[in-house]
Amino acid sequence: MSTETLTTALEILETRPMNSAWPDWLRQASAQASVPQDWWHWGPPLSLQDPEMGTIQNDFSRLTHRCRNSKKDPLFLATENIPRRVAIDRTAGFGGDAVFLASLGFEVHAWERHPSVFVFLKETEQWAHRQGFRLTAHRGEAPDQNLRAELVLLDPMFEETGSAKPSKKMQWLRSQAAPWSQKEWDDYLNLARRQAKSRVVLKAPPSTDLPGALPTSQIEGQSFSWQILKPF
Ligand SMILES: C[S@@+](CC[C@H](N)C(=O)[O-])C[C@H]1O[C@@H](n2cnc3c(N)ncnc32)[C@H](O)[C@@H]1O
Repeated sequence: MSTETLTTALEILETRPMNSAWPDWLRQASAQASVPQDWWHWGPPLSLQDPEMGTIQNDFSRLTHRCRNSKKDPLFLATENIPRRVAIDRTAGFGGDAVFLASLGFEVHAWERHPSVFVFLKETEQWAHRQGFRLTAHRGEAPDQNLRAELVLLDPMFEETGSAKPSKKMQWLRSQAAPWSQKEWDDYLNLARRQAKSRVVLKAPPSTDLPGALPTSQIEGQSFSWQILKPF
C-alpha cells in the first residue's frame, strides 16, 4: 500500500458525513482513488489482508458482548466513583477500550497516530454512533494544551513479554506501531496526569516494569494489569 493511496482514502474518509452508509461510498472511492482491491475489502466491516497474519478487522460482535457485560470488566472497575463525563484515550488503536468507555456514558475523544490503524478507529467511531455512544476519533497525537478530562486512558505498545500469546489484531498492531521510548514515557505520562481531573488509567501486560509510573492501585485482568494513577 503506498502512502499516497492511503492518504487519499483517509482524506475521503474524513470528509464523509458521520452517519451515512459509508461502505457504499467507500466502494466508489476505491475506484476513484485506485485503492488496491487486494488490500481493502469494501464491505462492512473493513478488512485488511496481511500476508502473514491473514484478515485483520474490527470485531464488533465481541465489542457488543463486552459492552453488554460491563460490570466485571477491569476498565469498568477502574472508572468507579468518578463522574462519567469526558474521557480521553491517547492511544486508541482500534478503539475497543474507547468504545467501552463510551458505552459507560463517557463522552470519549480518542487519538490514533498511525494512519492505517486510524482507518479502523474511524470505522469503530461510525459503529459507536450507530449504538448511540459518544465517541470522536481524532487522527494524530492528542493536543497538550487546554484539554482536560475526568479520565485519561493510556494503552501504549509494550515490548513483547513472551507470556500469553497476543491476539492476531494485537500482533498486527505490534508490526505497525513501535513501543514508546523512554522520552515518550516521560512526556506522555506527565501530560496525561496534567490532563486528568480524576484519574489516569494505564493498561499494561502483567508484571511489566513501568518506566516512571507509580500507580496508586491496580486491577488485574486476564491479560492486562490496569494501573490507576493520580492526576498532578
Ligand atoms: C496497544 S494499542 C491500543 C489498543 C486499544 N486500547 C484498543 O482497545 O484497541 C496502542 C496504539 O496507540 C497508538 N499510539 C501510541 N502512541 C501514540 C500517541 N502518542 N498518539 C496517538 N496514538 C498513539 C499506536 O499507534 C497503537 O495503535
